[in-house]
Amino acid sequence: MQMLAGDVVLVVGGGSGLGLGVVRHCLAEGARVAVLEVSEGKVEQLHEEFGHGVLAIRGDVTELADLESARARVLDAYGQVDAVIACQGIFDGQVPIADIEPERLATLFDEVFHVNVLGHLLLARVFHDALAEQHGALVLTSSTAAYAADGGGAVYTATKGAIRSLVGQLAFEFAPDVRVNGVAPAGIAGSKLAGPGALGLAATTQDAIPKDAFLDTFRRVSLLQELPTAEEYGPLYAFLASRHNTIMTGQTIVADQGLLNRSVLTPARA
Ligand SMILES: NC(=O)c1ccc[n+]([C@@H]2O[C@H](COP(=O)([O-])OP(=O)(O)OC[C@H]3O[C@@H](n4cnc5c(N)ncnc54)[C@H](O)[C@@H]3O)[C@@H](O)[C@H]2O)c1
Repeated sequence: MQMLAGDVVLVVGGGSGLGLGVVRHCLAEGARVAVLEVSEGKVEQLHEEFGHGVLAIRGDVTELADLESARARVLDAYGQVDAVIACQGIFDGQVPIADIEPERLATLFDEVFHVNVLGHLLLARVFHDALAEQHGALVLTSSTAAYAADGGGAVYTATKGAIRSLVGQLAFEFAPDVRVNGVAPAGIAGSKLAGPGALGLAATTQDAIPKDAFLDTFRRVSLLQELPTAEEYGPLYAFLASRHNTIMTGQTIVADQGLLNRSVLTPARA
């Protein structure tokens, strides 16, 4: 039995990293999939990989007009939307706040909160009625940064804490018609998460972080000892997006390889 057979799923930020892994998994689970993605180049790559198998729409999740147009295109193509999965995001470069010129903070805040928080709010508002009609699901992406320090800088971390709270509030407001849950990943192999333009880091991506040192640390401190690929997150997102989830709303699942389940940094067992 396929988890999403007959369902229409919109993945926002599905052009790379987590979202692309979720797109591939949702297709394997029988969904008809649409993607809203800001990068023209990534939209092209989606066309190359999936052809007509995915409705790839170029648009910015922070622009109301882009969201309304995406909603119209998905409904026109498929007639319904059963789940919206929000995987968009940008990073803050993990720059310590004391190293940021005070004059730049407001611009940095606006840039990162726009994509990471306002994008989720607008998405929820624009797709609420279509999701309610289908008794569907909304799945948002937080981060372990919302639970423990050192998962980002102060601004990124604050956005991810906001998503954790937003999941609870939207679940309350959208019940009983739409289930709203979140996922808080720790790390994603192959992520292209971009830094902020406000700090001149828009061209710096997460996969540019010195890989060996980061991987070595992650393997030593996480209980399951491997940085997951985007595809490995697919089954969790698919379940939360599906009708098989009749038991949870308002929850954010910490999907962290056991990273936070410890208080002392002794090495995990070999
Ligand atoms: N990489 C990690 O280690 C990690 C850890 C925890 C949480 N996350 C979160 O997972 C999510 C996915 O990140 P990723 O690591 O796969 O990065 P990614 O950059 O590979 O994927 C994010 C996608 O969102 C798109 N996007 C950015 N701004 C957009 C906008 N305004 N409108 C539409 N699309 C937009 C990007 O072009 C990109 O394709 C993000 O919310 C991120 O904060 C990532």
